[in-house]
Amino acid sequence: MTTQQAERTGMAARMDELAKRQAASLVGGGPEAVAKQHERGKLTARERLELLLDPGSFVELDRYRVHRCYNFGMENKRIPGDGVVTGYGQVNGRTVYVFAQDFTVFGGSLGEVFAEKICKVMDLALRNGCPCIGLNDSGGARIQEGVESLGGYAEIFWRNVQSSGVIPQLSAIMGPCAGGAVYSPVMTDFTVMVKDSSFMFITGPEVVKTVLGEEVTFEELGGATTHNQISGVAHFMAESEEEALADLRYLLSFLPANNLEDPPVYPCTDPADRRDEGLMSIIPDVSSKPYDMKELLAMVVDDGEMLEVQPLFAMNMITAFARLDGATVGIVANQPKVLAGTMDINASVKAARFVRFCDAFNIPIITFEDVPGYLPGKAQEHGGIIRHGAKLLYAYCEATVPKLTVITRKAYGGAYDVLGSKHVRADVNLAWPTAEIAVMGAEGAVNILYRKELAADPSRRDALIAEYRERFANPFVAAERGFIDDVIDPRDTRMYLIRSLKTLRGKRVERPARKHGNIPL
Ligand code: HXC
Repeated sequence: MTTQQAERTGMAARMDELAKRQAASLVGGGPEAVAKQHERGKLTARERLELLLDPGSFVELDRYRVHRCYNFGMENKRIPGDGVVTGYGQVNGRTVYVFAQDFTVFGGSLGEVFAEKICKVMDLALRNGCPCIGLNDSGGARIQEGVESLGGYAEIFWRNVQSSGVIPQLSAIMGPCAGGAVYSPVMTDFTVMVKDSSFMFITGPEVVKTVLGEEVTFEELGGATTHNQISGVAHFMAESEEEALADLRYLLSFLPANNLEDPPVYPCTDPADRRDEGLMSIIPDVSSKPYDMKELLAMVVDDGEMLEVQPLFAMNMITAFARLDGATVGIVANQPKVLAGTMDINASVKAARFVRFCDAFNIPIITFEDVPGYLPGKAQEHGGIIRHGAKLLYAYCEATVPKLTVITRKAYGGAYDVLGSKHVRADVNLAWPTAEIAVMGAEGAVNILYRKELAADPSRRDALIAEYRERFANPFVAAERGFIDDVIDPRDTRMYLIRSLKTLRGKRVERPARKHGNIPL
């Protein structure tokens, strides 16, 4: 045998070893565990990544890593990859970093090495300015690894916070996510949950039963419906894993890769000066009658297309991504169809978080306002509407991205100030002729202003209400003060917004130096 042949044989042997190792790294917990995963209607970590990323774009990192645990017989169970698949790939041609927890390996439980693998992609995502996406399906802290595992979680949490506002962080919950493990997804920007197969809670049904004696199902306690409708922990609910992953791809299409970039601009075939006649009839003649703000928005944005964020939570407030002339905008809008569009705790917190996300990632905020005021009552006051409502006020005041506001009908009281008024430094404030801008509605105002007169002569009420309406229930008092830049033909809304956004591209705002503000939490 010549030396050259021997070398080739050496390489061939090495290649055999590599092929064997590679094959072993792909099997996860083995065929039985994979079959069990499939039986539950769940995909494996690798199948999920294939659906999330552009075909053939996934580059894996750390596939040979194994845990260093010697407790409870773990030394005999070392599985390449250690239960989490990590790496990077492309979504619509743009790089993202990913990790997918593999429930077929030790129940996707998180130990030291597992955490180190996640931390590596989080560090790379942050350093390279790319979004980081986590697919969660895990029994939580790996019990055999004890405090190493708890430390691993905290390392992830710390990185979530370092990355917050620098790169978009997205989470999908595709199985269990329990205990402290919930704190990583919830600190990411957006969380999608899969209906019927995912759950999140701090303490599970068994603990609830032991401590409180209450019977509660997994679904009721922390399923996708619960967190999308009641708690507001999740932002999207998907009917299937496929839908959840498609949702993440679609969401990414609106976002920049990091805080130093602008969101992508897509070619737009919807004319910038398109006038929709429907806008002339959408506001009912009677001011107390509801209408569907979503229909109104659809007439304004590119191709009527929007991605609603938290569509099932605090439905009196709409938060959505859309495009105007191909560029991403964040929409905050009251929904007169739900609770008459009043603001409450959940609506305030939902919109505040959305406004802060948009501000962090250079997404202009467009506010469509029709709000009769704050929802009154003991439940709201005791629940802390003052503190929670202030979050939205704080978020608007703090935001330096272009802020544009369209008042379609009511802008009453504190809500007028909060929702992108000129005074919180909105750049462009427009009103429709149907706008009513005042301290409060006519009935309430008349009751206070004319209490004594009305006690003496109640028949004057209608005339006084009519007089107040005449004077205040219009946009012109505010326009005379310059608080409204223009009162526009509703059909021109799209054209005005697109034109204004162009002028605001170079907006720069100086802010006083400080460590950080102190938002009322
Ligand atoms: C080690 C775990 C595990 C864990 C599951 N497994 N969770 N191994 N540590 N935390 C293993 C199981 O032993 C089993 O191994 C395999 O994963 C699959 O689990 P099953 O129980 O068979 O699956 P299933 O019936 O679907 O139940 C899933 C489950 C349950 C509901 C998640 O496994 C469970 O309750 N696990 C414990 C959850 C938990 O309390 N985690 C700690 C939360 S506190 P075999 O070898 O039999 O296949 C926490 C703190 C984080 O995470 C703190 C951060 C600050």
